[in-house]
Amino acid sequence: MNSLEGRVAVVTGAASGIGFALAERFVADGMKVVLADVETAALDRSVAGLRANGADVIGVRTDVRDLDAVTALAEETISAFGAVHLVCNNAGVETGGSFLEIPARAWEWVMDVNFYGVLNGCRVFLPLLEAQDEGHIVNTASVAAFATGTATMTPYCVSKSAILGLTECLAIELDTAGSHVGVSILAPGPVKTKMPESERNLPQGVTAALEPHRVALMEQLKAKAAADGLEPAAVADMVIDAVRNRQFHILPHPDMALAGVRRRLQWMETGVLPAARRAGT
Ligand SMILES: NC(=O)c1ccc[n+]([C@@H]2O[C@H](COP(=O)([O-])OP(=O)(O)OC[C@H]3O[C@@H](n4cnc5c(N)ncnc54)[C@H](O)[C@@H]3O)[C@@H](O)[C@H]2O)c1
Repeated sequence: MNSLEGRVAVVTGAASGIGFALAERFVADGMKVVLADVETAALDRSVAGLRANGADVIGVRTDVRDLDAVTALAEETISAFGAVHLVCNNAGVETGGSFLEIPARAWEWVMDVNFYGVLNGCRVFLPLLEAQDEGHIVNTASVAAFATGTATMTPYCVSKSAILGLTECLAIELDTAGSHVGVSILAPGPVKTKMPESERNLPQGVTAALEPHRVALMEQLKAKAAADGLEPAAVADMVIDAVRNRQFHILPHPDMALAGVRRRLQWMETGVLPAARRAGT
């Protein structure tokens, strides 16, 4: 897919942060874009802002946890634009705590949005891309997929590792089958978005953990993202380059991703357990 002009992109989690930057970037390249998000007001604002600048976009309120909703998203995309070429399974959330303090429903929320949301997107859209014999899927993981062991973020690390495993398997299977559909994994470190506030979407009845070391770590991550985080637009530039070049890994923070892989390798080779990353480390 060298030419993206006139093609159709679907982006989940598109009302904010990286997802919105992707939508903006795709519009700038002449694409039609379907923005999907669970936050209706933010979605409406994002769509209106892009349309005010002449963009050919629609918004579809979608909860990616729900396979029927993702199926309806695909149907609305085809009905509006007749095709779909690029799918960014990007919606993601984080909550956590010390292992035994994390309620089952918090685990379900993180796995349902992050992992099953991506899986739903792949299962629903891949047949459409295959039928066209072209297209590309970008799944958003995180450096947390490579760098496990961040204290109190176990569900997030698990969900992002699962996305990495899914996306690697899919890329290899499609390539082996000679498919013309490309697959990429986006695994950023800190980016300036609303991710530190993602517990805003916690399901009813699930409360955020208030253990002091969790609160301290969250504050530290928030400050780090605000001070040194990448702009979402810079991440979007990397995504579009990767789609054009059919590149699997999109690593906005390659040093962090590689350090995570090296840490695991060292653990396997030496048997020495790495220290947990806690606030202040
Ligand atoms: N910001 C970072 O530092 C960072 C680092 C690594 C990975 N990521 C990943 O990037 C992706 C985008 O996050 P972001 O940083 O832009 O955060 P963000 O909070 O600004 O945007 C995430 C969007 O996902 C939406 N969303 C949440 N639950 C949803 C659901 N069930 N269905 C549909 N949409 C839903 C939210 O409403 C929001 O608009 C996530 O997968 C996140 O894990 C972010």
